[in-house]
Amino acid sequence: MAVSIKSAREIAMMREAGRILAKVHDELGKVICPGITTYEIDQLGEKLIRENGCIPNFLHYNGYPASVCISVNQEVVHGIPNKSRVLKEGDIVSLDAGLIYKGYHSDAARTHAVGTISAEAQKLIDVTRQSFFEGIKLAKEGNHLHDISNAIDAYVSQFGYGIVKDLVGHGIGTQLHEDPQIPNFAQKRRGVRLQAGMTLAIEPMINAGGWEVNFLQDGWTVVTRDGSLSAHYENTILVTDGEPEILTLL
Ligand code: CO
Repeated sequence: MAVSIKSAREIAMMREAGRILAKVHDELGKVICPGITTYEIDQLGEKLIRENGCIPNFLHYNGYPASVCISVNQEVVHGIPNKSRVLKEGDIVSLDAGLIYKGYHSDAARTHAVGTISAEAQKLIDVTRQSFFEGIKLAKEGNHLHDISNAIDAYVSQFGYGIVKDLVGHGIGTQLHEDPQIPNFAQKRRGVRLQAGMTLAIEPMINAGGWEVNFLQDGWTVVTRDGSLSAHYENTILVTDGEPEILTLL
């Protein structure tokens, strides 16, 4: 399917959807501490989204039961919040959240430290975040989609980390998941030509060990096959003819 190009009116809505989600993530980041449950984080996330007049887009998406995906340590993505899942000192926790503002979706993820974490865990978080920024350096009109994928892979591979292949980034707009798919690993073909007005969710998922993952019986949770830690960082961005605009950062 063709990649949609957003009009100026649509871009204004996407900006607002992104700005609100950035605020929600900032608030959620502040409550992360040993002792909080993943259920409490999800409840706060849903409350903040609704207080801002928005709808949580993950809730009931293909039957997903919560508003925030919360993935701890070796969990890669799509962890389900649970009243008995208590965060403890030294954990890393990935929060993936999204919302709909006037029919337009935003999507973003951050991995946080719970209290004091190991130097290895912090490095994984930092490299994952930086890989997003390495990728979007190439996100401008005239470049090709896979320039982004290749830049993420080239950066991450220096550290010997595993890049998840089973899940990818995506276009976003009136749907949470639109074309194109955006792999985080090197590609042989160039992919579609990038054009101003494309809105993309770029989301590297990086494992401290191998790239392979398992899908758990709960139907959602994705974990590293070797039990190594995993981090996730995602923003919704707007492609322009110059620097990309990151819609989900304040
Ligand atoms: Co996404």
